[in-house]
Amino acid sequence: MTTILITGGHSGIGLAAARTLAAQNIDVVLAGRSLERMRQAAEELRATHGVTVTTLTLDTSSLASVRTAATQFRTAIEAGEIDSLDAILCNAGGRFDGEVSYSPDGYETTFAINCLGHFLFVELLLPSLAEQGRVVYTASGTHDPASMDGKAVGAAVEPNAIALANGGKNGGKALSAGKRYSTSKLCTVMYAYELDRRLRRAGSSVASIAFDPGSVPETGFLRGMPKPIQWFSKISYDEQRAAKLWEDSKQLVHLTAEEEPAQLR
Ligand SMILES: NC(=O)c1ccc[n+]([C@@H]2O[C@H](COP(=O)([O-])OP(=O)(O)OC[C@H]3O[C@@H](n4cnc5c(N)ncnc54)[C@H](OP(=O)(O)O)[C@@H]3O)[C@@H](O)[C@H]2O)c1
Repeated sequence: MTTILITGGHSGIGLAAARTLAAQNIDVVLAGRSLERMRQAAEELRATHGVTVTTLTLDTSSLASVRTAATQFRTAIEAGEIDSLDAILCNAGGRFDGEVSYSPDGYETTFAINCLGHFLFVELLLPSLAEQGRVVYTASGTHDPASMDGKAVGAAVEPNAIALANGGKNGGKALSAGKRYSTSKLCTVMYAYELDRRLRRAGSSVASIAFDPGSVPETGFLRGMPKPIQWFSKISYDEQRAAKLWEDSKQLVHLTAEEEPAQLR
């Protein structure tokens, strides 16, 4: 039986995806921090579509929670309680308004929730993913400062994991909530590309995808834009920056050699 795990699958876009998948007789795993809300969604999906729905407690703001959730999930697969893992939908997240705040690990909240939590979760679950499996990231057009969404929310800044994780510390100026969000989505698109490159290099049959990826930089539309906008719109395709973002994120989540799948090195 095909099984797809969705972070934030009990609400919004994630729940819409869960309903669509369940309607195609696909089992789902809802991963999120609100057990009660996940229970309600799970009951609805089971009653409407007759599929198996499992819930997994996961708070992507906490590296400890991510590690516990990944261990619980792997244990459930090994025990045969979950048939397989055919896709991971990295969907949970959002824009976190107000003053800058920090995760239990001391990282800026938006970057921790939208980026580092999912980064670690994917690293830990990749070995459990089936052949032809998929990792799918919910990105956002806001990652592209040339788009109307990007301009309205706040143009994304340099996707430097160390700087973003520590934004606003030691008297430094914090980014606005909008910029924290759009930059986290720029990083999301870059994680998706970087993961896919690593998987291709390793000869893996797994693919990594981000949806709502933004504009295609080589079009006439962008050539007419001011230089800074052209530069930023291309940045999500910058392989050196993406590789650095990846390596820095490994440091920030304290990924051990045992935890890191060989194909992602
Ligand atoms: N709506 C849009 O216009 C839009 C556009 C582009 C991209 N997106 C992206 O789409 C994704 C889903 O958002 P949505 O619009 O469907 O809004 P939503 O209904 O608020 O869904 C966000 C989900 O993320 C979960 N979440 C937040 N923080 C979490 C954490 N620390 N650990 C685990 N789960 C956490 C929420 O769980 P709780 O119920 O526990 O808070 C919720 O299930 C997000 O990544 C968002 O950035 C949305």
